[in-house]
Amino acid sequence: MAIIIKTTGKAVPEKIMKNTDFPKELDTSDEWIRSHTGIGNRFIASETDTSASLGTAACQNILNSVSREGIKAENIDLIICASVTPEFKGFPSNACVIQRDLGSEKAVCFDVSAACSGFIYGLDTAASLMEKHGWRYALVCGTEVLSKIVDWSDRSTCVLFGDGAGAVLLENTFQQEEKGLRSVILGSDGKGYNALYMADHLKMNGRTVYNFAVGIITETIIKLLEKENLSMEDIDLIVCHQANERILEAAAKRLNTDMAKFVCNMENYGNTSAASIPITLDDLIQQGKLKQGMTIISAGFGAGLTWAGCVIKF
Ligand code: ACO
Repeated sequence: MAIIIKTTGKAVPEKIMKNTDFPKELDTSDEWIRSHTGIGNRFIASETDTSASLGTAACQNILNSVSREGIKAENIDLIICASVTPEFKGFPSNACVIQRDLGSEKAVCFDVSAACSGFIYGLDTAASLMEKHGWRYALVCGTEVLSKIVDWSDRSTCVLFGDGAGAVLLENTFQQEEKGLRSVILGSDGKGYNALYMADHLKMNGRTVYNFAVGIITETIIKLLEKENLSMEDIDLIVCHQANERILEAAAKRLNTDMAKFVCNMENYGNTSAASIPITLDDLIQQGKLKQGMTIISAGFGAGLTWAGCVIKF
């Protein structure tokens, strides 16, 4: 059975914050942020925006785009939401809030917690459940309001993050096909928990995360190519978690691959954790850069520590 990405959607808050908008007291600069991270702007949630409301908007965009094909909210069998900034601390899940607001009454709903790897964890979980239960449609959403948990007085972290939501509609075609979600790699290492964690605010050891990220992206991509018996020439685009352009440049160098294959959009969004990969997929599709017939690798890494990668044929 093939599980394909039928379509994508995204939603971002209205407010854009530029590097030059940080207050003088923070003692940062557009030049430092751009040269160390590749980030230029980020979206910032309003008081009333939540990760669930942004997630609902991303999923609603999807439902609007498929309604002419007769796919409606009530046809959704499963909603999985990945977020480290859910609307409610603990419970109910964001996925349940999204279900209520979409009106997808028959959908089974729950959240996954795997930080910036959460979207790919969610994809694999959704695909497995769709196959097991014979379900046809699932929404997998990554959504964050990181601006609500960063320490705005800590220049080493607050400049990095942004808010937004991305989602995909998965379809089980019930046929053996080349297309769709292919090999997936998931991994976790709790020994690295203190490299990135949430206390009163988000805390991070930037160097440790940087080194981990470069190594694990490289290793995950190599393993995925081996599993699929593909070479880098067979891959059209590499869509990684958008944390820092320098991480992707270092990975491209280690893989001896042209950086042009690595999609970078952190300039516009900052690091949106679980939302970054689905937002990037949606942008690529909207811009006509990700077309039917293409093969991509996606890879994420994040707190936990966790990592995840997958091959998707469109
Ligand atoms: N503006 C100006 N100066 C700054 C800023 C800032 N925003 N932040 C840090 N600095 C200063 C530091 O104080 C330090 O000054 P010093 O030399 O006088 O002590 C200097 O810049 C260098 O600091 P480093 O932390 O060593 O800078 P580095 O080159 O490592 O870059 C960064 C920091 C960008 C965070 C890098 O370590 C990194 O990208 N790490 C990966 C972290 C990451 O991507 N996290 C995202 C979360 S992980 C995830 O998404 C799951």
